[in-house]
Amino acid sequence: MGQETLKQTAAAAALEYTLNKLDYDSYLGVGTGSTCDIFIDLLASHKSKIAGTVASSERTAQRLRSHGIPVYELNTVDEMQLYVDGADEVNPHLELIKGGGGALTREKIIAAAASEFVCIADDSKRVGHLGNFPLPVEVIPMARSYVAKMIIKLGGEPVYRQNIITDNGNVILDVHKLYPIEVARTLEEKLNNITGVVCNGLFANRPADTVLLATLQGIETLTAN
Ligand code: A5P
Repeated sequence: MGQETLKQTAAAAALEYTLNKLDYDSYLGVGTGSTCDIFIDLLASHKSKIAGTVASSERTAQRLRSHGIPVYELNTVDEMQLYVDGADEVNPHLELIKGGGGALTREKIIAAAASEFVCIADDSKRVGHLGNFPLPVEVIPMARSYVAKMIIKLGGEPVYRQNIITDNGNVILDVHKLYPIEVARTLEEKLNNITGVVCNGLFANRPADTVLLATLQGIETLTAN
């Protein structure tokens, strides 16, 4: 079974989870990435079963709208019961690295606002320690060089992601050489404290509540202890 099939399995499990949890007046946060794209396509046939969605990126908003699924601004939604999103790495504490697709800031805002955060991924995303995947950091453009120097002091090797401007008009530094990240919460806070950093892709202070991990044996449901 290839990675693509596993992503479909994860997306199908997320759809089932969503339909079990939400009803006609519920709002659903929708993440960004190839696994979420499949989830959105599956959701299309069930769009009348929820009130609408909040999108974590322009890309996701466009895909939702292309299926006629209503998309709302987060500011207009009183309560968002569930957020479904992918990840680049998942550790045993359900802490994540996200932002491979560059949407980390809006993803983190939606994860913070949602009552429940369900992460969907194929088995290749499971790690013992985070940090092999270069950690995305969204930065105000004029602060890029300053932030890069501060990150080097923390032991990372920042690489400017070329030709990418985020939905918020910022740039991304992908930070290598952080593996193994021992205390993800602390590193998340240290990076957030650098002036000019908008957000970083560590989801440790707000980890996932549940991970639906697609394996060769089927879906493994991981929950926070
Ligand atoms: C988007 O910015 C990321 O956080 C994605 O959630 C992550 O890259 C997972 O993407 P895939 O589903 O394409 O692996």
